[in-house]
Amino acid sequence: MEKVRIGIVGMGNMGKYHADYLLRGEVAHAELAAVCSTSPHKLAAYEDRAQVFSDGLTMIQSGAIDAVLVATPHYQHTSLGIAAMEQGVHLMVEKPISAHKADAQRLIEVSKKHPEVVFAGMFQLRTEPRYLKLKKLIDDGELGEIVRINWIITDWYRTEAYYASGGWRATWKGEGGGVLLNQCLHQLDALQWLVGMPSRVRSFAQLGRFHNIEVEDNVTAYLEYPNGATGVFISSTGEAPGSNRFEIAGTRGKVVLENDRIEFTRNEACMLEHSKTSRIGFSKPDIWNVEIPFGNAELPHAVLMRNFVGAIRDGECLIAPGHEGIHSVELANVLLYSSLVDQTIDMPMDGAAFEGKLDQLIRESTFEKKVVEVSDEDFASSFNR
Ligand SMILES: NC(=O)c1ccc[n+]([C@@H]2O[C@H](COP(=O)([O-])OP(=O)(O)OC[C@H]3O[C@@H](n4cnc5c(N)ncnc54)[C@H](O)[C@@H]3O)[C@@H](O)[C@H]2O)c1
Repeated sequence: MEKVRIGIVGMGNMGKYHADYLLRGEVAHAELAAVCSTSPHKLAAYEDRAQVFSDGLTMIQSGAIDAVLVATPHYQHTSLGIAAMEQGVHLMVEKPISAHKADAQRLIEVSKKHPEVVFAGMFQLRTEPRYLKLKKLIDDGELGEIVRINWIITDWYRTEAYYASGGWRATWKGEGGGVLLNQCLHQLDALQWLVGMPSRVRSFAQLGRFHNIEVEDNVTAYLEYPNGATGVFISSTGEAPGSNRFEIAGTRGKVVLENDRIEFTRNEACMLEHSKTSRIGFSKPDIWNVEIPFGNAELPHAVLMRNFVGAIRDGECLIAPGHEGIHSVELANVLLYSSLVDQTIDMPMDGAAFEGKLDQLIRESTFEKKVVEVSDEDFASSFNR
């Protein structure tokens, strides 16, 4: 295949962003062949550059595209993703791969039946040098065995205008969750990519704490891992200025990613060995302070798209295989579910139970969503991925 013909479904903030770098030629061997939106005014700008469609299924079945990028609200990721794979159209799905775990399982089941179709997820943190450095540190054993993680990611501040900018946003029916499923999905993917999945979780999620919304916008969660490591994950869209501090402690030291710096404090000896062998009650292992340099990511979304195109054309290994997206969905779900049912939840969580809870929330919702149309320019100027 000389060029992979890509179609984008959902031409909101993200769809437009992806279309722009494709049109600028940032992804070799790929062309923007078609765009689709249920909002007709989003299509006018593309009429002379790509085929335009008002229905995703029609675009997928048109023969005009080899691959589709799904950038719609969350629930449509599953239905459109399944339709694409059944049609033999390669699939790149925006995060989250689905609105909830049971839907993610449905998507993955179809993917297993179509191994010839490339299925990838838009988890761009995996291309960012800072997270690659953390991954190397962990995988090379520099931290020893991990004993604790703390991630305070409260700099996802959003205003009421943000929530009012789309009818689907921050509703059980349209989005399926709040800060966990939307903003934090990237951190939750990076977390499981770096340290694996927890074995149980206890969470406290406040619904509409800072905003006039029905879903969670403030969360504090405790996580326990199979080796006994513990963790705390804190997030909010209502706190300013907020923090983004990620700390991982292991038996050989600790690493902190904050304020565009990675600081590694390395124990000269394993802390457990030191504790067993030292004859001095208050002594600690000697340390080295190391600052780990890293560059900035350049167009991380385009990097993933190049990788997707490489996988389609040349069988390149995917940086973010779509099926791995189930882990971040499960984490987003369980960090909410534990709070909703006021219980500690063992992992893997019961996807059907969460789906049932979500259905109940949708059925019982009396929330009236206020939508205020925001111009593309206004949104783009404040858009913070
Ligand atoms: N990877 C990232 O950095 C990143 C950043 C922001 C958002 N996202 C994800 O991108 C997706 C879209 O988010 P957004 O902020 O662009 O939302 P948005 O509301 O700005 O855009 C969604 C668009 O989809 C259209 N749409 C809805 N249903 C459709 C359907 N069935 N067929 C075709 N078009 C349809 C709407 O008209 C709207 O224009 C979400 O999954 C979100 O989580 C990813």
